[in-house]
Amino acid sequence: MRIAIGSDHGGTDLKAAILAHLIANGHDVQDLGTDGATSVDYPDFAKAVCGRVVDDTADRGILVCGTGQGMAMTANKVSGIRAAVVNDTFSARMAMLHNNAKVLCLGQRITGSGLALELVDAWMSCEFEGGRHQRRVAKMTS
Ligand code: RB5
Repeated sequence: MRIAIGSDHGGTDLKAAILAHLIANGHDVQDLGTDGATSVDYPDFAKAVCGRVVDDTADRGILVCGTGQGMAMTANKVSGIRAAVVNDTFSARMAMLHNNAKVLCLGQRITGSGLALELVDAWMSCEFEGGRHQRRVAKMTS
């Protein structure tokens, strides 16, 4: 799968762990930064990752900040994007199965790397079910 990934300075360590995990599992990963501890603005990275999904140069996107919240708020303002903050595997699966959330948002200050990798795997193991869920997600913007 083609995955675009980005973080702010509050998410670089978890981004690195997810990046290594995805590459080890054979995925095509596009790392859009940031790297290092210099303070940056999370919307810049959220928009960059969502842009890759919207223009179909990535199948899905992953965003990491301190809590995942700012990334998700920004991503959900990008036309065509549905993003979900997840902290449990059931929500990670349902975000894809029922909500077709192609952008996953995680909080490095909330979620340890062990659980975060399980959340990523749970979300990536699923595809959108469509059907009645397609009607519902379409109503979000109609
Ligand atoms: C940065 O300090 C922090 O606000 C950011 O990483 C994120 O948690 C915002 O939602």
